[in-house]
Amino acid sequence: MANGHPEEPFSEKLRVPEALTFDDVLLRPKESRVEPDDADVTTRVSRDVPLSVPVLSAAMDTVTESEMAIAMARQGGLGVLHRNMSVDGVVAEIERVKRADELIIRDVVTASPNQTVRQVDEMMAERGVSGAPVVDGDDEVLGIISGTDIRPYLEVGERDEVREAMTDEVITAPEDVTAREALELMYEHKIERVPIVDDENRLIGLVTMQGILQRREYDQAARDDDGRLRVGVAVGPFEEERAAAADEAGADVLFIDCAHAHNRNVIESARDIKAAVEADVVVGNIGTREAAADVVEFADGVKVGIGPGSICTTRVVTGAGMPQITAVAQVADVAAQHDVPVIADGGIRYSGDAIKAIAAGADAVMLGSYFAGTDEAPGRVVTMNGKKYKQYRGMGSVGAMRSGGGDRYLKDVEEDDEDYVPEGVEAATPYKGTLESELHQLVGGMKSGMGYVGASTIPEFKKRSEFVRVSPAGQTEGHPHDVIITDEAPNYRPEE
Ligand code: XMP
Repeated sequence: MANGHPEEPFSEKLRVPEALTFDDVLLRPKESRVEPDDADVTTRVSRDVPLSVPVLSAAMDTVTESEMAIAMARQGGLGVLHRNMSVDGVVAEIERVKRADELIIRDVVTASPNQTVRQVDEMMAERGVSGAPVVDGDDEVLGIISGTDIRPYLEVGERDEVREAMTDEVITAPEDVTAREALELMYEHKIERVPIVDDENRLIGLVTMQGILQRREYDQAARDDDGRLRVGVAVGPFEEERAAAADEAGADVLFIDCAHAHNRNVIESARDIKAAVEADVVVGNIGTREAAADVVEFADGVKVGIGPGSICTTRVVTGAGMPQITAVAQVADVAAQHDVPVIADGGIRYSGDAIKAIAAGADAVMLGSYFAGTDEAPGRVVTMNGKKYKQYRGMGSVGAMRSGGGDRYLKDVEEDDEDYVPEGVEAATPYKGTLESELHQLVGGMKSGMGYVGASTIPEFKKRSEFVRVSPAGQTEGHPHDVIITDEAPNYRPEE
């Protein structure tokens, strides 16, 4: 092989295999008995983590922090916290998600018996609570005080001490109380909050009626074995410390976050991280069957996507990439044999793309741009030319690498902006309102796709669905054409 000349003539390289993406294919409609509303979209994101909705929000600093992760998990999906923050920062974010819908509130606002009624009233207003357990210096519960107890005093005795106004016969419960038992206590005693105490009557938490009702509202939520919301966390390929801290803090799934995980050093490090943690470990991104074969041996899930993302420039900058439908299918061929779930990451613009990714073999999809314009994504709404937008940027853009480093792209931190070789851009995306309504449209469209194919579950859909190839003329036919759209649809935005 002198001078880099291959065994075969160079021109043989041009006999290239075809690789397809979302717009190249459509699902072939089939006889069906499945109504979209009856389709069951339950899935697995990794070996041990089920989800009731097969959707993840991307680990990007303009998409997923705790607010997004909480909203995603409440709706049955999974938010993956980005890693452009310190290790302590991510631990605090994980704790925020885990505490969000906890039955027992641990960070309780308390009153002391010798505060004045006026002081407690002000404190409760400031902290946004309508009642507080009254404790002594050792946290022993002496009583409980609420707005109802306080109101008569505000007129005539606002300087009176809390011990006079409080209810001193407190109904408490032990730490292992269930939601049902707590509710029964509340109904029986006509109260709205029950302090949780240890054997010595010391306060360890609080259960509120409002909290219990809120948990009920999210009956599809993705919860861990203790009933807390689930959360995913991105860790760099060589960030053993972040992985250990996130695992300790209760992360359900760690995502080894690398633009090209089919790299020997990344795989070895991912293997070490997997051996050291309790959480499931998803490895990505990959895009070929050879890469899949190398990671399914140890990974609990694999993530697919080499350059399909809306803000990605990987393919134009590096000349490398894999059109996403082919990439997903190749990886799924291997992963399915090992019973390892596959996540299709990037390039999804419409619900139709999401369900095509599942047909190609994915178990779940990850989206960035689709969610970046929602209220729950970090960042504020800006108005340009009378339209509302939110910022959305690639994690390989100069701005994101400056604030988080370039190790996702296997690059070092640079001193000067000009020294970065970015693989992403910084952009704005239309403001979209709540995550809940966006997710409703996304999942609703996916379920309709299952209806057209006649499959009532994700595994059945993966088996039963078939693709047809679409020509450029077919693609044009598939979008609204020869009309001027007069009213925006909630699930369709023409490409600009
Ligand atoms: P969408 O299309 O949903 O894609 O906006 C989100 C996914 O894109 C990946 N990502 C990047 N890829 N350069 C890239 O080549 C980047 O700067 C970049 N930032 C994010 C990532 O996999 C994400 O989930």
